[in-house]
Amino acid sequence: MAEQVVKPGDVTQRVGVEVIRARGVDVDKLIKMLVANAAAEFASTYYYYTILRMNLAGYEDYKEICEDARLEDRAHWELIVPRIYELGGSLPNDLKAFHDQAGCAAAKLPDPPSVVNILTLLLESERCAIRSWSAVCDMTFGKDPRTYDLASRILNEEIEHEAWFIELLAHERDGKSVPSGHFRRGEPGEAPYSKNRGFYNP
Ligand SMILES: [Fe+2]
Ligand SMILES: [Fe+2]
Repeated sequence: MAEQVVKPGDVTQRVGVEVIRARGVDVDKLIKMLVANAAAEFASTYYYYTILRMNLAGYEDYKEICEDARLEDRAHWELIVPRIYELGGSLPNDLKAFHDQAGCAAAKLPDPPSVVNILTLLLESERCAIRSWSAVCDMTFGKDPRTYDLASRILNEEIEHEAWFIELLAHERDGKSVPSGHFRRGEPGEAPYSKNRGFYNP
């Protein structure tokens, strides 16, 4: 049994952190990774994906797919923020600083904003997310079951998002059929793995 460092009644330390540190998790590094990933999800859903989606006029079916990916990134943001605080971390008290720490490059509207350019950007953004969340899974597997569970829920959806945009880009750019293999979500923003309603909201 790990040594107990948190004294009874102590509100300055956390047993939830003590136990994962005892298992070898570098908690400070994990908090940094989660803040970087949260920044990427935040910027993506509320800003970059919103702009990119608006510029897919005439491709209403693509807009629907983009909307699912965008709203699921919002679920990712809301799912992971509480974990940062539970671990003793916090969001930067400065939006610009927060944005600049994002773990993925800003998905700015490409020039020209053609459908192929937008889909390429969306695809690469999903790929960055897969890499970032996989790194969190690797760091926490077998050591921090809560962070692992949250990160793997998000990863499930990022992998689906990559498949969606591979399908659309292959069709638009190469005239090829590369099916994503996925069925339609129940409604926009379904987020079957990451919606935190099941955890926090009635
Ligand atoms: Fe995401
Ligand atoms: Fe995504």
